[in-house]
Amino acid sequence: AVGTARDPRLAPGAAPVARTLKKGGPPMWLLAELTYRCPLHCVFCSNPVDYAAHGQELDTETWKRTFREARAMGSVQLGLSGGEPLLREDLEELVAYAHELGFYTNLITSGIGLTEKRAQALKDAGLDHIQLSFQDSSKEMNDFLSSTRTFDHKNKVAKIIKSLGYPMVLNCVMHRYNLPQVERIIEMAEAMGAEFLELANTQYYGWAWQNRAQLMPTPDELREAEAKVNVHKARLAGKMKIFWVSPDYVDAKAKPCMAGWGAVFLVVAPDGTALPCHSARMLPGFDFPNVKTHDVAHIWRDSDAFNRYRGTDWMSETCQSCDQKEIDHGGCRCQAFLVTGSAEATDPVCPQSPDRGLIDEALRAAVAQAEAGAPGSTHALKFVPNAARGGEM
Ligand code: FES
Repeated sequence: AVGTARDPRLAPGAAPVARTLKKGGPPMWLLAELTYRCPLHCVFCSNPVDYAAHGQELDTETWKRTFREARAMGSVQLGLSGGEPLLREDLEELVAYAHELGFYTNLITSGIGLTEKRAQALKDAGLDHIQLSFQDSSKEMNDFLSSTRTFDHKNKVAKIIKSLGYPMVLNCVMHRYNLPQVERIIEMAEAMGAEFLELANTQYYGWAWQNRAQLMPTPDELREAEAKVNVHKARLAGKMKIFWVSPDYVDAKAKPCMAGWGAVFLVVAPDGTALPCHSARMLPGFDFPNVKTHDVAHIWRDSDAFNRYRGTDWMSETCQSCDQKEIDHGGCRCQAFLVTGSAEATDPVCPQSPDRGLIDEALRAAVAQAEAGAPGSTHALKFVPNAARGGEM
């Protein structure tokens, strides 16, 4: 889980759910975070920074029961994510079971651990879709940002995915160190024969929140990159779809995070904690339910955690009176908490928010940092290191 779009309508190449959003319906989209273990240590990863404090991973049978209960409610899409889901030895078994239940299955991976043999086994098990992450188009930056030597392997994995007839879906998290290379990233995706490329501007949660000052580009850098992206979007129309995930700090527009709290999206963390989004477990004052002790129907319909910010009643007066409230669903609760200290607050990226000044301050700091000059090499960059463990390269 390196930090993909929080707007499910943007999930590239695998969006049957997004087009069928219905209020009061089931958790159409189930995201199974099979493990927090990861061979990569991306400095913008959205996984919890205190991942080691969370309990044991669910066993195979509990995952299967969770899939079954969600499917019985009407879930249609199952994302298999992490950490690195390939570190689970039962991945093929889980995919086969989900396929049998009728899920559309989607593997979200760094590619580390995906051999030809394993890819074929996943295909045979019925896996529908693979999303592969890259950190950059250059080996130096890719390997530096993930603290691994994985660039060459990812290129091999891309070929394997293509050879098995999967649509090629690439994801790259964007920030100040790779935005200048955005055209090279697009060209790399094109050369690989990608059908979809998600250019996911960093959203600041987890490790990315810790490293926000280092990662944040200036508004000018973002606008310049977006203009280049638009040129390539037009050039590649009909061949490759490019998704530019809105940098919401700069666009000053609240994103419809998770298409609304408890609306379509259910995350189950490695230890079984059920969450309305990837980051919610750091919110104070919640007692998140666990699939080990409650069934999915109870969690989804009756738990306080899933009802707390459902619909519009909980919204501040600013959001209540806004004509966008049914469109952006009040933006992102986790962002509101991280920036303002209150999960109930209006999403601070919104110009109507009384806390918008905090976002502008962060943007001014990014400009000041850019004016001070970029470091000459990756060795001079100082990040809070992501301490993820498991399947080391
Ligand atoms: Fe947006 Fe949690 S990440 S609500």
